[in-house]
Amino acid sequence: MTDKAFVPPPYPHDRLRPIIEAARSAHGDVVDLSIGTPCDPPPAQVMDALLDPDSAKGYPPSVGTDDFRGAVASWFGARFGVDVPIPQIGACVGTKELVAGLPHWLRLRDPGRDTVLYPEVSYPSYAMGALMAGCRAVPVALDSSGRLDVESIDDRDAQRALCLWSNSPSNPTGKLDDLTAVAAWGRANGVPVFSDECYVEFTWNRGSESTILGEGLDGVVSVQSLSKRSNLAGMRVGFFAGDAELVHFLNEIRKHSGLMVPGPAQRAGIVALGDQDHVNDQRSRYLERLQFLAQMLASYGLEVELPEGGFYLWVNSAGAGGWELTERLAIDLGMIVSPGEFYGPSVVDYIRVAAVQPDDQLELLASRMSC
Ligand SMILES: Cc1ncc(COP(=O)(O)O)c(C=O)c1O
Repeated sequence: MTDKAFVPPPYPHDRLRPIIEAARSAHGDVVDLSIGTPCDPPPAQVMDALLDPDSAKGYPPSVGTDDFRGAVASWFGARFGVDVPIPQIGACVGTKELVAGLPHWLRLRDPGRDTVLYPEVSYPSYAMGALMAGCRAVPVALDSSGRLDVESIDDRDAQRALCLWSNSPSNPTGKLDDLTAVAAWGRANGVPVFSDECYVEFTWNRGSESTILGEGLDGVVSVQSLSKRSNLAGMRVGFFAGDAELVHFLNEIRKHSGLMVPGPAQRAGIVALGDQDHVNDQRSRYLERLQFLAQMLASYGLEVELPEGGFYLWVNSAGAGGWELTERLAIDLGMIVSPGEFYGPSVVDYIRVAAVQPDDQLELLASRMSC
């Protein structure tokens, strides 16, 4: 191998293995609040739709069936009052696939550029996608309110940028970006903006839910997922929508790459997108769990704020250090969380706690704390 060979770094959650083992030795079992994977069942009518044999026998369209893209357009209309033409929509195999693959594809579109701009505290796949495409991953600072500070972006980085990522509500911080400012910056600088909105349904201040497509479709792409919205992370259904040329390019290149959401998953996705009641139920569950965990961690001596959106608590370790606090919670309570380092070098003092275990598991943690 040459010096230039890419060696995949250890996968963040694999690094928790020794801590999980230590927690198991201490408690026999663990309550895993590290990965943001849903624990509640998907709606029954969604699972029923999976059984339609017609959707399984042939190859599904890579861009999404007409019915699937129609359901996406209806959802954008009903949820945000945004009108999205069907050709400006594409399906993806869960959104991580798109996040990780995007820099490679955008570089083929514009070989003169080599930079991905992403929030300095963020889901790791934005930077990893850039590195896997041989691009520069350039973090963008957050302002004092935790929002993407687009004005801080260096002109030289903007000129080289293939895209700017926003993630609102943010994983891990739970903050909401100013999408008006983000879209305006992208347009003023000729940089496509990709807005990862997979937690938008879990925006806690009703009425603050927003998509970048509310700013118009030119130069921006909204990236959405059914994984969190409908407890369908195992189904791998995501979609993206926005700028006509960008979506067309991505749809064409993904076709050539053989990327397809399985037909039955697209059928099920249509049913999920047509129902808002299960999303409202899920909102209540997450909010209650966030409140329960916040109280529990406060009695453990930590200062905890509820997020503006998403289902994570983003907690300062109060001087302990993120890895050290992660270890302490594992040993004291059998509770597994993610150290802040997973989300950027500037937040090693934080931990992220995902409210993704059923109530009985959270009560078990509370009972361990009172022992
Ligand atoms: C911010 C963010 N974007 C994208 C994803 C990927 O979700 P999926 O691939 O299930 O659509 C996640 C998953 O945790 C996430 O937190």
